[in-house]
Amino acid sequence: MLESTVAQYQREGRTVYRLGLGQPDFPTPDRAKAAAIQAIQDNFTGYTDTSGILPLREAICRALLRDIGLSYEPGEIVVTVGGKHALFNAICTLCRPGDEVLIPVPYWVSFPEQVKFAGAKPVFVQTGAASGYKVTPGTLAPLVNESTRLLILNQPNNPSGAVYSAEELSKLAEFCRERDLWVISDEVYSAFVFKPEGYTSIASFPGMRERTVVINAVSKSYGMTGWRIGYSAAPAAVTGAMLRLQSHTTSNPSSIAQQAALAAIDGPQDDLTEIRNEYAARRGVLVEGVRRIKGLECSVPDGAFYVWVDASAWRGQTLEGRIISTADDLADILLTKAGVAVMPGTGFGSPYHIRLSYAVSRDEMESGIKAMESLLGRK
Ligand SMILES: Cc1ncc(COP(=O)(O)O)c(C=O)c1O
Repeated sequence: MLESTVAQYQREGRTVYRLGLGQPDFPTPDRAKAAAIQAIQDNFTGYTDTSGILPLREAICRALLRDIGLSYEPGEIVVTVGGKHALFNAICTLCRPGDEVLIPVPYWVSFPEQVKFAGAKPVFVQTGAASGYKVTPGTLAPLVNESTRLLILNQPNNPSGAVYSAEELSKLAEFCRERDLWVISDEVYSAFVFKPEGYTSIASFPGMRERTVVINAVSKSYGMTGWRIGYSAAPAAVTGAMLRLQSHTTSNPSSIAQQAALAAIDGPQDDLTEIRNEYAARRGVLVEGVRRIKGLECSVPDGAFYVWVDASAWRGQTLEGRIISTADDLADILLTKAGVAVMPGTGFGSPYHIRLSYAVSRDEMESGIKAMESLLGRK
């Protein structure tokens, strides 16, 4: 609904500040574009192995060793049509009808839908600003029973930006081992962590590699959302089952996009550092801007490129002649009256939050904040 209004406004030439975006604003690296063009010229346009081309799976293994310190074999990797597809393979493979799946709130929109598709039941684990929007063994324990199969842990989190420390992960890992739970670790934003200690994967703790499916993608890290390349790294038996599912559904992802992903992952990674630094700076500007605006609160996110804004103070208030019941109303008013597109939190399991993105230019971000401030007022 909001997206179609944004598109309509843009067609009409009206200014829209797009603070709702879920994709990086930097382009695909030249090395990836060149590899794709080369692949076409070389007629590298046929089917590939269902699991993806071997050089790409080998490069993914090197990246996993470099980034999360875990050693995987190419036979434990499945290259997929984006991270979303890898999640779908993993959820459909691990979940049996009637299983329960722990999903921390706020969550990325597709988790509960994929779990339901697999015939399993999403069990939501509430979090809040006080805990940094993170779960602990203490918050999970009351929700675990003999049907609990799996925890979906997404960090850096979309939408909250939460990143777990090694100590927090170690406790969660111990809990999952004790309760015999599988973990799907969605790490698609792992390139964007702003804490000096960097990113740690739950799979890297003792006894966890064998009960975790690591999911990642080139989408967010390399500005390649449209190329649709993601992957899973998981123990051989689970990988085999995911592969059979993929073989009878999508087969391999695009041969051309696989060559592009290979070049992106394997090339020098200096551009990533520059992008991370730029995002860290923009994060500061956005957080400061939000904190000036009446009725909005936020914490400083440790990762991804979102700020998760508590707008609950606007609940029940009247703005522009309308009563605000949920963040959907607030988002609608912001778009129609101030030309600011934001993402309401309802789809993320939190109807009184909005998600703002700093994957937009500083100019657009600053103008968007000003427009919000003049509509909502200053603190
Ligand atoms: C947390 C999370 N996981 C997975 C995905 C899917 O990524 P992809 O575009 O690679 O399918 C997204 C995309 O927004 C996401 O935010």
